[in-house]
Amino acid sequence: MSKLKGLVLAGGTGTRLRPITHTSAKQLVPLANKPILFYGLESLREAGVVEVGIIVGETRNEVMSAIGDGSAFGLDVTYIGQDEPLGLAHCVAIAREFLQESDFVMFLGDNLIKDGITEFANQFRARRPDVVAEILLAKVADPHRFGVAELDSDKQVIRLVEKPKNPPSDLALVGVYFFDKTIHEAVAAIKPSSRGELEITDAIQWMIDNGKKIGSQQISGYWKDLGQPEALLEGNRLVLEDLVPKMAGTCDEDSIIDGRVVVEDGVRLIRSRVRGPAIIGAGTKLVDTFVGPFTSIGAGCELISTELENCIVLQGSTIEGVSRLEGSVLGKSVTIRKRQILPRATRLVVGDHSIIELI
Ligand code: TTP
Repeated sequence: MSKLKGLVLAGGTGTRLRPITHTSAKQLVPLANKPILFYGLESLREAGVVEVGIIVGETRNEVMSAIGDGSAFGLDVTYIGQDEPLGLAHCVAIAREFLQESDFVMFLGDNLIKDGITEFANQFRARRPDVVAEILLAKVADPHRFGVAELDSDKQVIRLVEKPKNPPSDLALVGVYFFDKTIHEAVAAIKPSSRGELEITDAIQWMIDNGKKIGSQQISGYWKDLGQPEALLEGNRLVLEDLVPKMAGTCDEDSIIDGRVVVEDGVRLIRSRVRGPAIIGAGTKLVDTFVGPFTSIGAGCELISTELENCIVLQGSTIEGVSRLEGSVLGKSVTIRKRQILPRATRLVVGDHSIIELI
């Protein structure tokens, strides 16, 4: 079996505009209490990829301290610095020395492929050298927000278009691409697009125009960080659906855990109920509280006399006397509590770019 290297894109600029500002690297925003990027690294390892180059940019310190040398993931990681986000094909160009002549899989660090990439990696290996590249596609409701592929009857790619006004199909490019060394010739041949980036779609189109075969495979269970709270909640739900239950905390006799729930070390449930799928991070305390389906509570939180459902709560937050929260995303060390003293008015201390909807 030929060796595949990995190229993971975790550069780009910080995302100060997003609602959760605990990290400026969007690849490190957690879904079910785990950074998005970690799912990608795990799926590379599962597919037999060990040597991984990671592109890092403005947020390199955060990304490098989260991943280290990669040994925690069973990976051998090489960091490749990118001073400016000059495009996905630019990432391939600056990784040339790391990649050498190897086949490789390029994985965008803010994309999630629910069932991993092992099957697709094996198919690419099997179809080589007939195809020089293989792309993954997913049906999406809003193709104009994505790169879109047009296929022939053999599922070979005829044309790629970036964010088309009139999409030729509803098949969006998923952030995982398999390439052989032909891509380097293509990247060297293309020019920056109108937005000033070296586009991977242009490089793939160059290969098609030069008579190369590009295969495609359709997947489901794809998610991409679109920077909106609703999208984050959707990604969280997607991961929670596959949760393997675990009980490492303590639960008093007045508490109930229903369905698929992960309760991490040191969690205490006191007169509380958790209905899965849900995850409760290490050391968190729930008192007289209901945690409903599709909720992730980070480590070290305290929830007292509170009800919530379909929410993401990051570590170190306190919620007291709030009933009830739905579809909410709370950052790190947030406090929300019912005001007990008069006057009974809502009092807020809210960070930049927050969204609050009152009833
Ligand atoms: P995005 O900026 O989302 O790239 P995109 O072309 O998909 O963007 P858009 O949806 O706006 O068209 O970046 C995808 C991932 O790749 C993200 O994890 C950041 C990373 N990246 C780099 O590391 N270097 C780059 O030059 C670019 C453009 C992205």
